[in-house]
Amino acid sequence: MDLHIKGKLALVTGSTSGVGKAIATKLLEEGAHVIINGRSQKRVDVVTQEFQSIGTVYGIAADIATAVGAEHLFSAAQAIGNVDILVNNVGFFEFKPFFQVTDSEWSKLFDLNVMSGVWLTRALMPRMLEQNWGRIVFIASEAGVKPNPEMLHYSVTKTTQIALARGLAEMTKGTGVTVNSALVAPTWTEGVEVFLNKIAQGSGTTVDAMKTDYFKADGVTSLLQRFATVDEIADLVVFLCSENASAINGAAQRVDGGIIRSIL
Ligand SMILES: NC(=O)c1ccc[n+]([C@@H]2O[C@H](COP(=O)([O-])OP(=O)(O)OC[C@H]3O[C@@H](n4cnc5c(N)ncnc54)[C@H](OP(=O)(O)O)[C@@H]3O)[C@@H](O)[C@H]2O)c1
Repeated sequence: MDLHIKGKLALVTGSTSGVGKAIATKLLEEGAHVIINGRSQKRVDVVTQEFQSIGTVYGIAADIATAVGAEHLFSAAQAIGNVDILVNNVGFFEFKPFFQVTDSEWSKLFDLNVMSGVWLTRALMPRMLEQNWGRIVFIASEAGVKPNPEMLHYSVTKTTQIALARGLAEMTKGTGVTVNSALVAPTWTEGVEVFLNKIAQGSGTTVDAMKTDYFKADGVTSLLQRFATVDEIADLVVFLCSENASAINGAAQRVDGGIIRSIL
């Protein structure tokens, strides 16, 4: 299927690995021009080099956990061209008991997971509205509607992204711009491997055992019964970024492996 996004300029935050990298790959395969972002110039260079053979790719190293970093990313992206597609993918997750999460940890996580998307959307969406076409997708999580008590601070950031996407979509009425969020399933990525490694070390088990045991635990309602692959997530996100998804706006789109036990 042609998704009709050839030549569109897409910015995918946090795209040197994991879900972001898979989204960037599939956007490139669809003929979009893609800006890769991560904190380290070295990793950005490696990925842009790797993608040269697929399509038109640019790399911008910027730490978008701060407004200054996000401003740098915005300015450098503007120097390339007008961004038509923004995927607010960057995010950090960890298990930490609510009573141990400090104020500064709350703020840091909120800045990275939520404010990075606020800063970039505030900078890029007005132009999308002016040109009457644009796509913004927030990479949220099933944890945003089914808050996980072991990672409540993270879950709250994901709920906020869902609310943000819906509220922003209200501002697009009658235009060709859409804003959606994706409720992503537990997905096998570098970040998850690091995250499970930390838990495994503290509980005398292995990452491989946790990979399957995770889905057998009480209260885990996954119908998929395994980690999703990054490609399974990227397929949905790239569709949301496409011309073909023009009637999907303000949606909290599930790709959650059936975790959320409700009809709507
Ligand atoms: N994996 C899951 O199970 C899962 C489930 C639901 C939702 N999600 C969401 O999906 C998104 C991606 O998750 P993932 O598992 O793919 O993560 P990941 O494997 O940890 O990758 C994170 C990416 O973000 C970049 N990054 C991290 N901090 C950054 C910063 N301050 N500024 C710029 N780039 C930064 C990293 O690149 P550098 O290290 O090169 O900076 C890397 O490319 C997150 O929003 C997450 O909440 C994931």
